[in-house]
Amino acid sequence: MIDSEIDKLKGFMPKHEGIALTKWSEKFSSIGPIMEIGSYCGKSAIYLSKGAILNDQLVYTIDHHFGSEEHQIKEEYFDSEIFDYKNQRVNTLPLLIKNINKIQVKNIVPIVSNSVDIASKWDAKLGMVFIDGGHSFKAANNDYVSWSTKIKKNGALVIHDIFENPDEGGQAPFEIFQKALKNNFEVYERVDTLACLIKN
Ligand SMILES: C[S@@+](CC[C@H](N)C(=O)[O-])C[C@H]1O[C@@H](n2cnc3c(N)ncnc32)[C@H](O)[C@@H]1O
Repeated sequence: MIDSEIDKLKGFMPKHEGIALTKWSEKFSSIGPIMEIGSYCGKSAIYLSKGAILNDQLVYTIDHHFGSEEHQIKEEYFDSEIFDYKNQRVNTLPLLIKNINKIQVKNIVPIVSNSVDIASKWDAKLGMVFIDGGHSFKAANNDYVSWSTKIKKNGALVIHDIFENPDEGGQAPFEIFQKALKNNFEVYERVDTLACLIKN
């Protein structure tokens, strides 16, 4: 799928950041598989898959598909298209499957569960972890603590929605970004709100 087609899919990944995801996915999938926290409808996973397939590598993507706080009814990012009125819940899984089926190469592995629950049972070391799940401090910190230890040396941790200025956005991704810098990560590249850090 070409970038202009991916850009039309429902999601929260602008094209310039998506292109960076593809580039980093190509580089770091040579080290190991890619893990995404926060599949939503698959937009960012598809950008990741384009890079990973060049190394014949998998992209795992985790989501419970109940949406984050901001996607719930009456919240800022509520979207009636992904609300299951019969069961009165957000459900992004049908659109994730529909979007994955649009791509030719099948290297995306959806995992329908809570990110922390999967982390507690996950042993395989990863080439890159992309954190874009819950944006509360607790959720982002849980994802950082649970998944950053599973990245191989010289692999990458990518964090989305980093806003230094609180007037521009929530601070949880920025807080885990700062935490990573105090641990054994350093910035590899930054594209707008998306940062790629290398594990030393
Ligand atoms: C910001 S959206 C992801 C956007 C997606 N990466 C994109 O670019 O289109 C965050 C997603 O994380 C999921 N999520 C939040 N907390 C989670 C958790 N603890 N475990 C699994 N998924 C979670 C929500 O259901 C939501 O679909």
